[in-house]
Amino acid sequence: MKNNLFILSLLALTFLTCETAENKNSQVANQGQLLFEKNCTICHGKDGKLKASGALDLSISKLSPEETLLAIINGSPQKGMPAYGARLKQEELNQLRDYVQGLIVK
Ligand code: HEC
Repeated sequence: MKNNLFILSLLALTFLTCETAENKNSQVANQGQLLFEKNCTICHGKDGKLKASGALDLSISKLSPEETLLAIINGSPQKGMPAYGARLKQEELNQLRDYVQGLIVK
């Protein structure tokens, strides 16, 4: 009986820890979405497909996560993509990279 209780509380604990980890992940995802909506949707649209001002459709981007991060940091000033490296924190740039990678339809 005692053993069962022990296993039960262990299960409950695992469940609780999973829950907080998940919440944290979705908080990070939301952060990326907020940053994207604030800075990027004007050209790329909410789903990344807008292509306003010559922007590329992000849902079909072939860039790796590293290349996406560089594209956001350096932009493409001659073609109209602003550089965000100096405007945003590293953490925010990473969140944007993850969000943009998530827009790619695989
Ligand atoms: C003023 C319009 C504009 C805004 C705002 C803008 N972009 Fe862009 N973006 C562009 C253009 C134009 C290109 C194409 C550049 C090129 O052809 O080299 C581009 C290209 C990209 C690419 C490269 C895609 C690929 O597959 O090569 C990424 C990634 C990207 N943008 C992400 C973002 C993110 C993230 C933001 C917000 C932080 C953002 N952009 C804001 C116009 C914009």
